[in-house]
This record gives sequence, C-alpha cells and structure tokens, in this order.
Amino acid sequence: MKREQIQAPKGVSEYVPPRSASFEWIRDQLIAPAKAAGYQLMELPVFEDTNLFSRGVGESTDVVSKEMYTFEDRGGRSITLRPEGTAGVMRAVIEHSLDRGQLPVKVFYSGAYFRAERPQAGRYRQFYQVGVESIGLDDPAIDAEIIALADTAFKNIGLRKYRLEITSLGDVQSRAAHKVDLVAFLKTLDLDEATQARAEINPLRLFDDKREEVRKKMLKAPLLMDYLSETSRANFSQVCSYLDALGITYTVNPRMVRGLDYYTGTTFEFIHEDLGAQSGIGGGGRYDGLMETLGGADLSGIGFGLGVDRILLAAEAEGVLVENQFASDLFIIPLGHPAKEMALSVAQNLRQSGFKVEIAFGDRALKGAMKAADKSGSAFAIVLGESELTSGAVELKRMKDGELSSVKISDLGKALSAHA
Ligand code: HAM
Repeated sequence: MKREQIQAPKGVSEYVPPRSASFEWIRDQLIAPAKAAGYQLMELPVFEDTNLFSRGVGESTDVVSKEMYTFEDRGGRSITLRPEGTAGVMRAVIEHSLDRGQLPVKVFYSGAYFRAERPQAGRYRQFYQVGVESIGLDDPAIDAEIIALADTAFKNIGLRKYRLEITSLGDVQSRAAHKVDLVAFLKTLDLDEATQARAEINPLRLFDDKREEVRKKMLKAPLLMDYLSETSRANFSQVCSYLDALGITYTVNPRMVRGLDYYTGTTFEFIHEDLGAQSGIGGGGRYDGLMETLGGADLSGIGFGLGVDRILLAAEAEGVLVENQFASDLFIIPLGHPAKEMALSVAQNLRQSGFKVEIAFGDRALKGAMKAADKSGSAFAIVLGESELTSGAVELKRMKDGELSSVKISDLGKALSAHA
C-alpha cells in the first residue's frame, strides 16, 4: 500500500537544488558588505519569550496583533517564533552585557523568520532575512553606512530596478508635537471602533491603513516631517548629504510607515519594481528607546532587515543570476570494490588540496557512469579499474574535448592544475 505523502506547511519558503545555490549566493552577497565593514555574526534562537515582541515590536502592529506564531511550551511559558530579528538582538546585547563594552555593537544575522500572513508570491509564513544592527552610537554617518551596506549588496548582485525611500520619524519632541495635531486631526474623521483603537495605541499606524477610504481621509493628515525638532532635522539632512556624497539615490517619502513600532529618526525602505504587491526587499531604521523598553541602557541603534526570498525573486526577474551549478574538477569512476577504496582515498586527498571531486557510486555500467560524468559538468574524468590499480596510472580525460593523457595516480593533482 502506498502511504499518503506529507507536504510542507502552507506558505513556507524552501529551497532545494538547483535553486538553493542561487539562494545561497544571494544570501552571501547580502552579508558580504557588512562583514567587510566589521559587523560580526549573531546566531540567536528562533523562539523567544512572547513579551519580547509584544513589548519590543509593539501591540498596535499587525505583526504582533495578528501574525505571531505563539504557543505555550511544556513548562507553561508563552513562546513565540521570531517574526523579526531586531528585538532578539537587543535582548541578547543586554543579556550578554555587550552594551557595556566597545560601542557601537556591530552585528549581522541571517536566518528564518515567521509571520502568519496570508501567503502569496513573495509573502511567506516562514521567510529568510539577512539583518544588520549598529547599536550604541547616534551618529548620522552610521545611518548612511548602514543604508550603503544594503545598497552595495544590491548593486553587487546586479539589481538595477530598485529604489530607496527614506524619511525621518524624528525624536521624542518631534513626535510629541506631531502627535497632538495628528490626534486632533483623527478626531475630525469618522473612523470605526477598531481603527480608533489602533489610533489610540499608535496614531501613526493610520498612515499604513490599506483601505482606500482611510487612505483618502489621511491625505490631509499632518506629516511628522513638518514637526521635526532642530536636532532631528539637522540629523536627517546630514544623513541625506552623506548619501549624496556616496552617490546613493533616494526619494524622501514623508508618508512612509514601517510595520514595526520601534522606529525613530532615519527610517528607510528598498522597493523593487518587478515584484508586484510584495515589493519591499528590505527596510530598517533607527530605534531610540527600544533597548530601554527591553530593560537595557538608553542606547540608540540602527539597522535593517533584507528579505532574501524577495531579493532572489527580484534577481531572477532581472535575469542577473548566472548558472550556479556545482561542477567538479574531477569525476572518478571506480569499477569494483578495491577501486572504490582507492577512489575514496584519491578523492579525499585531492579535495584536501582544494579540488572539487565527485565519485560515481553504485556499480553502474561504464557507459552510464561516463554519461553521468558528462552531465555533471566536471572538467576531467578518470576510470579506476583493475589495470589502473596494478599500473598506478590512469587515463585523464578532459571532458570538453575528450583529450586523454596518461597520468600517475599520485600526480593527479599536478595534472589537474596543468591541464585545466
Ligand atoms: P521588516 O520590514 O518587517 O523589518 O522586514 C524586512 C524585510 O523582510 C522586508 O522588507 C521583506 O523583504 C522581508 N519580509 C518581511 N515579511 C516577509 C514575508 N512574510 N515574506 C517574505 N519576506 C518578508 C524588520 O523585520 C526589521 N527587524 C528590520 C530592521 C532591522 N530594522 C532595524 N533593524
């Protein structure tokens, strides 16, 4: 009886060969600029105390109010699969006292995140992010560096059809001044109860409302940009001038609202043209106060999260990925047991010298094995049979033109380099 197949849960993104090679390449490209700038790896748990996100990300956000995978563990604790990376990084910085060492704390991370969203192209319930955070110094030049790290990664990948939007959400004074007018404005609107409740927790959220009627009403709302304090305004124009100096183009979008509540000051989003509704390929910003909210020191920070899945889709849409298939330097075809033993040790030695070597296992007929060698894209192939074991020499076949050269088994490494 054939047993029923089990399928992956709905809406998860997963990568299997050959596409996984492209995923891996994109992820490495996203990390590389951060590493080159001295950011270090943070590897954190995928589940955390639920309070970390309700307090850190904010109760009024969709992420916390509707999209968290929350469950009780066997000890009765409320646990949540991480919907994003910044809160966990702050938790770890505080817990490991990194905030009391050299500042800024500069870290990157890469991994799976979980949001119970309605799945569609580019929107998944398990997705992948590469993120970067710089914590502890409030210097507009850091904001520019952070934005440049993401921009460099996109350029290195070869993306062209993306844009950067940037705004400032100001400091406490700016937001307090704006809030008074915004709340007064919202009172003049005819809003349903749920929306009013959202507005009470965080009135800025209404700029993010997807409903056409609310969007229309919000067109006349006072903009935070017009309420920036002296310091916030000066910081923002400093960030912009650093970006100009770096040749990074951007548009200022004073209506930008990010889906997480911790943002203050410089806030930004990268948007790709070819991705339809899920066009945000990355975003981030500064977060004064987040660390203090989570029980740490009053340090500011700034960072971003890049959506690896969407960036892969964007790279595919722009056709910038090169065929990334594994191709070995040597493909060994052993005939019989003693030959397999020899193949295993020859392969191990050559791999240790830096060559990529595959072995044809499974006692296939020579013809079939040769076909496999051909298909594998390997540069060279050898057959190891009884006569080769006795003589200690093999015929090294160059796959692209079939040229054969007689080589001692002990000299294979040299021959591979010489004939390549
Ligand atoms: P975020 O904007 O919520 O920010 O997510 C960052 C990126 O993750 C998005 O731009 C998008 O590319 C990707 N993403 C988000 N949700 C999904 C999904 N359901 N499916 C596929 N991709 C998705 C953050 O998470 C912040 N922690 C970023 C940050 C770091 N801010 C400061 N530091």
